[in-house]
Amino acid sequence: MPRKLIIDTDPGVDDAIAILMALAASQLDVIALTTVFGNASTDVTTTNALTLLEIADRADIPVARGASKPIASNYIGPVPQVHGHNGLGDAPFPPPQLAPVAETAADFLYAGVAEHAGEVTILALGPLTNLAVALQQHPDLPSLVDEVVIMGGNALVPGNATPVAEANINNDPEAADLVFGADWDVTMVGLDVTHQINLSSAAIKRITIADTPAARLLADALPLYQGFFEARMGIDGIYVHDPSTIAFLLEPGAFTTQAWPIRVETESFSRGKTWPNLGDTDDSAPPAWRGRPRVKVCTDADAQRVLDLVESLLGANQ
Ligand code: RIB
Ligand code: CA
Repeated sequence: MPRKLIIDTDPGVDDAIAILMALAASQLDVIALTTVFGNASTDVTTTNALTLLEIADRADIPVARGASKPIASNYIGPVPQVHGHNGLGDAPFPPPQLAPVAETAADFLYAGVAEHAGEVTILALGPLTNLAVALQQHPDLPSLVDEVVIMGGNALVPGNATPVAEANINNDPEAADLVFGADWDVTMVGLDVTHQINLSSAAIKRITIADTPAARLLADALPLYQGFFEARMGIDGIYVHDPSTIAFLLEPGAFTTQAWPIRVETESFSRGKTWPNLGDTDDSAPPAWRGRPRVKVCTDADAQRVLDLVESLLGANQ
């Protein structure tokens, strides 16, 4: 039985890659996409979610529109220099014919999880606002979910949105602190591993040369994103942030994890930093971490295994 997945997302070029991988993986059954602000506004990310499903010929998968701002602050704003003004590398996609469902992302997510109690994994690829709202509105949510896998955070390495914070967590630190503090099985696939996993320009060429709708979409959407990594980070190719979560779902053995409670800084210049408590047991832990659940934090990855999986799911055979 394929594993049921709800993808909460802010597409976003790397979200698009991850979603296309999930749709291509026979072990995964994507039952809904829920959208959130982040790489672009929620209007844009919702349009992009619909566009992706239309291009992938998956109109059967519903899209629910989510939060357009963080739970306790203002939206920092889009990042057109990374993902383009349209969130998909400024490639000119026609407006989708599909439309979102009427329910909010938080309600739709809860309803989907409740309908298949214990069977649904939530994959969060953007700011954690929708998950936090769902937790606030439906306190029994954690007991109904199988697992939560998050692209976000940085335990032992610097940030990417600020010197100390990763972009998804930085976009809504209060929401992230709620999500990491809830009583469910959470895995953090953060910069500790995604900055080890570099899809080269040669690999991108091999993927985008294929004569498939997914490859053609990525061929149009990737150049601006790739240019950002080359210009700003000096790497050939891209870091596969969101796609690494799909690799974690399919091949968890490719990742090393540590079980650490996580707090998220919400103040001043360290806002958005995910702080693990590395050593103490619950009883002797500093008060801020005491009683917090342990999060599975990915600290190391077999990068080549992840990259091979990205290529095999997006390659010409799809
Ligand atoms: O830090 C990387 C994350 O921020 C990814 O999810 C990317 O899509 C952006 O949202
Ligand atoms: Ca994302």
